[in-house]
Amino acid sequence: MKNLKLFLIGLATITIISCGGDKKIESSTESNSAEASSASAESTSTSTSSGDYDPKRGLGKYDESNVDVSKFDATMAAEGKKIAEVKCTSCHKPTEEKLVGPGWKGVTTRQTPYWIMNFISNPDPMISVDPELQKQLEICLVRMPNQGLNETEARQVVEYMREIDGAK
Ligand code: HEC
Repeated sequence: MKNLKLFLIGLATITIISCGGDKKIESSTESNSAEASSASAESTSTSTSSGDYDPKRGLGKYDESNVDVSKFDATMAAEGKKIAEVKCTSCHKPTEEKLVGPGWKGVTTRQTPYWIMNFISNPDPMISVDPELQKQLEICLVRMPNQGLNETEARQVVEYMREIDGAK
């Protein structure tokens, strides 16, 4: 029983290390074709498909009009941390270090709060078109699963991420 536990820990460690590598793995066909289709959508202005993708906002209902991050709310961040511990920390660390997915430190400087809310509320459509997520997918080789966050939960998790990045 103890040996099995050690074995599983070892296995998990290997998985973690392998995600940290920056080697290009030839699963990039998907991202290449996504890049190609968005490039062609740009050149033909009549196309309405992925050429409309806004990498600052992502896909979903959240934008600067309905996400207010002007003040930091410590209570909200504490709630967000609780949610993260149940639904996210099996794959994400609050540091820069990768686990299954990228570490969260710095994410609120890389992405807008409404991009993050759109993404964590419904990851799949954005993974298929967002250039940054395509890069991460190449490294992590796993698509982030939908964790079914509602609006309140998504907002609380963003507040926790802001706290990780030093919001006070
Ligand atoms: C099964 C593992 C897994 C779980 C659970 C998971 N994620 Fe992810 N997450 C990933 C992977 C892998 C990526 C990289 C993009 C991709 O390949 O889908 C990612 C990417 C992200 C990103 C983008 C990071 C960046 O640096 O741009 C955010 C934000 C994020 N996840 C938030 C969350 C939140 C919030 C939860 C919990 C509600 C969560 N994740 C649960 C695997 C996971």
